[in-house]
Amino acid sequence: MTFPKNFVWGAATSAYQIEGAAGDDGRGPSIWDEFCRRPGAVLQRASGAIACDHYHLYLQDIALMQGLGLQSYRFSISWSRVLPCGMGAVNEDGLDFYDRLTDGLLAAGITPYATLYHWDYPLALHRFGGWLHRESSDWFARYAEVIVDRLSDRVRHWFTFNEPQIFVGFGYQDGSHAPGEKLELSKVLTIGHNVLLAHGKAVQVIRSRSKIMPSIGYALSVSPVAVPATETDQDIQSARQTFFAASRPLSRNNSWWTDPVVLGRYPEDGLAFFEKDLPPMGKDDLRTICQPLDLLGLNVYFGETYRAGADGTPEVVPCAPEHERTSFNWPVVPESLYWASRFYWERYGLPIIISENGMAAHDTVSPDGCVHDGQRIDFLRRYLTQLQRACSEGVDMRGYFVWSLLDNFEWAEGYTQQFGIVHIDYASQQRTLKDSALWYKEVIAANGAVV
Ligand code: FCB
Repeated sequence: MTFPKNFVWGAATSAYQIEGAAGDDGRGPSIWDEFCRRPGAVLQRASGAIACDHYHLYLQDIALMQGLGLQSYRFSISWSRVLPCGMGAVNEDGLDFYDRLTDGLLAAGITPYATLYHWDYPLALHRFGGWLHRESSDWFARYAEVIVDRLSDRVRHWFTFNEPQIFVGFGYQDGSHAPGEKLELSKVLTIGHNVLLAHGKAVQVIRSRSKIMPSIGYALSVSPVAVPATETDQDIQSARQTFFAASRPLSRNNSWWTDPVVLGRYPEDGLAFFEKDLPPMGKDDLRTICQPLDLLGLNVYFGETYRAGADGTPEVVPCAPEHERTSFNWPVVPESLYWASRFYWERYGLPIIISENGMAAHDTVSPDGCVHDGQRIDFLRRYLTQLQRACSEGVDMRGYFVWSLLDNFEWAEGYTQQFGIVHIDYASQQRTLKDSALWYKEVIAANGAVV
């Protein structure tokens, strides 16, 4: 099995999920700090206050990455660590952390991929109106300026947002993620529109202020990917149509979140579907939102099967009760990686990078001192085989980031879902490479040839 010559192999994390040090060196609170304090919001009342203490142990973590031969590392920046109130005064100590992280990665030969926003919105700004505020996209652009001015002499690869679907859908519509709101649809769509504007303005900031030529992406949540039951034209079309239907819930919607960014328009079926709740849109908004991008990031975890029904309309093929699942109860559907990549490539024509893929398990350190996560190796092997298929069929595929480097704080699930290829003992902060990490090291060294 071969992958393109310049294919990039990496691992991903996000700030709130690993950094800890929530009260250190002037960091301001984010909506997640506050959400975790609400009874019942997060399993076992867990929080990211300490997490993997990566803020203090980052050099050790970089050494682990280097040992695994990781070529790239995708991390996110905590907005409120850098701007404790979300705007105004810069917290130099906080900014310095990302400076040191960047230098440490580069010294270890690892290319940094920085995500500006992975869900930890500054609490002060939220109280000031948050994403509903009509100036929220400008606040984000100003934050982007601070980061770009400091890091863009060394950081080339950027993602503006991670999974707008999830933080808007879960955070403001069904309330299962921070800030835990259940707003009416018109407000949710306004938030979505402001996030898209913020994306566009951040891309402008990165392009205009970067000191080295930037490569800019936008990372989407695409699960469940609609996968065709068979490879007949009818079933493929049923899956494609379902995958891009704008009537899908916002947290599972692809076209609503991607068409404006790449094609410069909201999908027609979405405009009709959401007609009564559409936000006010300025006449230049879509021009701002649609900025040239270098690639799209796809976060791929699982899929759902569709076929053409008797009358030709798509119908779901229920997942068999015995179908293999991860500890998160997500079905293992390796083909989802292929179909998501192919469908995105067909519709948008932009290069693709798999910005997240991986699985949760209940991993433990065995008496032999190792973590035998064979299911994860099988999972990754099968998904990578599908990724290879996409490459061999001409999808312009740039790289792959396993989610995640470390076990970490899995949002509302607390620490109950372990996605890492490195095990964390939270009591001692001891890191142990799982079998999957050692296997991934070989995959990287062989550019996928040993998959
Ligand atoms: C994605 C998130 C990431 C992690 C994985 C399991 O939706 O981007 O932070 O929680 O799921």
